[in-house]
Amino acid sequence: MSDKKKQIEQMIRPNCRGFEPYVAGKPVETIQRELGLKKVIKLASNENPLGPSKKAVKAMKSAARKVFFYPDSNSWALKQKIAENFRVKPANILLGAGSDEIIEIIAKLFFNQADEVVVSEHAFIRYKMAGELMNCKVVSVPMKGFKHDLDAMARAVNSRTKAVFIANPNNPTGTYNTKGELERFLSSVSVKSLSLPPLVVMDEAYYEYALVNRDYPRTLGLLKKYPNLVILRTFSKIYGLAGLRVGYGFADETVVDYYERVRPPFNVNLMAQRAATASLNDKRQVKRSVSMAEAQKKWLCGELGKLDIEYVPSAANFILMEIRPFSGRYVFQKLLRLGVIVRAMDEYDYPGFVRVTVGLPSENRMFIGAVKKLIKK
Ligand SMILES: Cc1ncc(COP(=O)(O)O)c(C=O)c1O
Repeated sequence: MSDKKKQIEQMIRPNCRGFEPYVAGKPVETIQRELGLKKVIKLASNENPLGPSKKAVKAMKSAARKVFFYPDSNSWALKQKIAENFRVKPANILLGAGSDEIIEIIAKLFFNQADEVVVSEHAFIRYKMAGELMNCKVVSVPMKGFKHDLDAMARAVNSRTKAVFIANPNNPTGTYNTKGELERFLSSVSVKSLSLPPLVVMDEAYYEYALVNRDYPRTLGLLKKYPNLVILRTFSKIYGLAGLRVGYGFADETVVDYYERVRPPFNVNLMAQRAATASLNDKRQVKRSVSMAEAQKKWLCGELGKLDIEYVPSAANFILMEIRPFSGRYVFQKLLRLGVIVRAMDEYDYPGFVRVTVGLPSENRMFIGAVKKLIKK
């Protein structure tokens, strides 16, 4: 190692020295270029293949001429629209460059070195990364089957616990915790003899997909009773705006007040604000997207069943599956060569699994065709 590199490494905060870069889903263009393939489909990052609402595209086109201006630092119009849509006050709304950024800002705002952060074993990986960034102790609680074990997570809470993260539904398992399970969890961490209950961050990135399940919790109604609750949502999934980076959330007014003080002043860009606001005017787009995902999930699960491939029933727009006897990484590589990008699940400690986004009907057929080639059925 060169002296210069060593010196720089000495300057890096010790808890960040062992970090690995986040492994994101590969873009279509990268695979086309690298493998010389014409037709490539991406089923790797749980995006909505129907794309954004036409209203959002129109708003972006007109915003394009205005990008020499800084955006509205307070995202006034977007907050008004979210407030109207979800019947909350603007003072209860968090905004960020994706819910990813909200997670990180919450970590910067609340976490001290001595704090503990409770996560579930195979939960969305960004919670663990946020805890590690702030040099907290990340307590990982085993799952029950493929589901968060909320009772065990409640038992892991102690006086040092600053936050508990719950992805509902979870990425990559697609499982969800019911209203009853969540309410039991919230009341049990609140009555523990702690001076302060921990923040409970409910990440509902796939909320709109999960709503078809009757026992899926409607958390917004719980915010008044539990001021330690933070609810995260995003425009990246059902609204088809992942490339713009805009996430939102709901929290107690005091949480939002302090969040506003530490967030970067222009974290939600001008195009993102306009497109997200317009998206909320297009309920049909959401309905269409949910219906397609539901129907296609059913079709995919049927096909997987015929091929004896085990999968985890999902409340989101992706499916975690195990294509035996192959490792997830092998499946990923083989499917890539057939023009289908999926995600291997090593970083989630599921080396035998891949996670596949529910795509358009033609994409799902192409995926199943590629799997058949892989297993030669
Ligand atoms: C559970 C979960 N939370 C948050 C995110 C981040 O989404 P965003 O694009 O809003 O940063 C994702 C993205 O895949 C996710 O799966």
